[in-house]
Amino acid sequence: MCGIIGYKGNKNAAEFILSGLSMLEYRGYDSWGVAIKKDNKISTFKKIGKISDRTKKDEIATGTIGMGHTRWATHGGITHENAHPHTNENGNIAIVHNGIIENYQKLKKSLKEKGHEFLSETDTEVIAHLIEEYEKDFDFFEAFKKALNDIEGSFAIVCMHKDKNELICARRDSPMVVGVNHKSKEYFVASDVPAFLEHTRDVIFMDDNEIVVINDKPTFYNLLNGKKVEKKEQHITWDIAQAKKGDFEHFMLKEIKEQKETLKNAISQKDEIIENIANKINSGFGVFFVASGTSLNAAKSAAYMFSKHAKKHVNVVDASEFEYYKDFLTPKTLMITISQSGETADVLSAVKTAKKIGVEIISIVNVMGSSLERQSNAALLMNAGPEICVVATKTYTSQLAILHLIVYAVSGRLKRGKEWLKYAADHVDELTNQSEITKLENLALRLKDCHHMYIIGRGLSYPTALEAALKIKEVSYIHAEAFAGGSLKHGPLALIEKGTPLIVFAPKDETFNQTITNTIEAKARGAFIIGVSPEDNEAFDFHINVPDLNGTSPIANIIPIQVFAYYLAVLKGLDPDMPRNLAKSVTVK
Ligand code: G6P
Repeated sequence: MCGIIGYKGNKNAAEFILSGLSMLEYRGYDSWGVAIKKDNKISTFKKIGKISDRTKKDEIATGTIGMGHTRWATHGGITHENAHPHTNENGNIAIVHNGIIENYQKLKKSLKEKGHEFLSETDTEVIAHLIEEYEKDFDFFEAFKKALNDIEGSFAIVCMHKDKNELICARRDSPMVVGVNHKSKEYFVASDVPAFLEHTRDVIFMDDNEIVVINDKPTFYNLLNGKKVEKKEQHITWDIAQAKKGDFEHFMLKEIKEQKETLKNAISQKDEIIENIANKINSGFGVFFVASGTSLNAAKSAAYMFSKHAKKHVNVVDASEFEYYKDFLTPKTLMITISQSGETADVLSAVKTAKKIGVEIISIVNVMGSSLERQSNAALLMNAGPEICVVATKTYTSQLAILHLIVYAVSGRLKRGKEWLKYAADHVDELTNQSEITKLENLALRLKDCHHMYIIGRGLSYPTALEAALKIKEVSYIHAEAFAGGSLKHGPLALIEKGTPLIVFAPKDETFNQTITNTIEAKARGAFIIGVSPEDNEAFDFHINVPDLNGTSPIANIIPIQVFAYYLAVLKGLDPDMPRNLAKSVTVK
């Protein structure tokens, strides 16, 4: 994962780099570091921990060109030495890197034999030494190009040389975008747009195997043959206010509360585009939904929606398992991938596998210009604005809304589906008004010290239960596990003791009576029942009231549990925006 940023302009680079890194912290927060070039000298500063923990004593050099990195450790532990930027021995060349160098051991061995000394255990450090090695015979650009062509694996790299007044950067299979402000003559390069959104919304997305040299302006080259490449600038519509916390203490609660707006944005898709996807689903020979994490739970929800409203069978596969399904694929198969970031390595790898067989790829993605958007035959944007909190909230409901539109279009009732979604969007705000929030905060206060929590739902509510469990686990570190209501009696009931919390999703649909039966079975064994339902029931010890939204109930029903999970984390003194060991954009397999 990791977040990288580079700045070249005429102001103090450190300011832009530090503020950019704090916007990229969702990508990793094990350590951070900055390198600044001034008067033929590169100064680096590195520190373990979060950028938000920076103190006044952490002095960063001044200069108008520099780079930064926030790390999610892969190769080598969380140490000062392993933090980026990395340099060669004499500090002439500095590198920040996001990705994995797969052949680094072989490269390191051969560089060591040539006398290079390594300071860290990272794969990244080999790049600085490799460039230095090639620089013995070639100019810096050529040496950079040759070094990267020796590398197997994925990379987004920013590099500086002490004698060059430029940044040289490259990407392959890891995200990288250039921000341009021609007026102020300031240029940025980063893993993601929010890193520089405050300074420009004009961007150039880099493609795989491209180099950009940022000198007076950015110039692009093909990494393989060194030829110049013409690139188009694009204008981003995301608003900087969406990428800032504003009056909120955490992004998580801010993003939960944005859902009325983000749902409306998600629904505003062009009818002909949705209908076109529906036609492809109707004529496809096998439809596979592929995603990871929260996006996978949205896909699981879609499978029930397709069955219930469109009488259509679709397959749902965890992206990391897709490789083992490839024998089912034919050129007539349709693959629909769902991803907030559009950079999840497991999803991109599944796309690669499917494309080799000639499968058509449609994506539902939030980040414009992401690898997934560009590698798909067609893409639908969620238009949810930047989601900064590591755990997905608003984009989950956006995904559900778009999937709902597609399901209704498949059954020829797109207009009806849209009406339901508009009704749902109009009712979600009431789930996060102050009295509901206080109620959920009190519930969290009561349950924050428990070690286990279980969640049940049937049919359409089963994926909601899976997503609720994921949210609770991710932010509160409480063991939360979801079961289909009917499967509780096939084993998990043994886990219920006096006071064990059981969250029950009980919408007023065909699952209601049986769900209540399952609830009573658990209550009889001492479970403390939290019912999420439009109707209170004597089986519930605590009732969370939700609007009766029929087929769109998963959209509303998850929201109180997002809030509940948020308060579990906050009351336990945890940071819900940056849970331990996780990163928002998982760009490694
Ligand atoms: C990571 C995040 C999850 C997210 C998943 C899929 O595991 O920690 O919160 O749901 O990636 O991300 P995507 O960007 O593909 O939706």
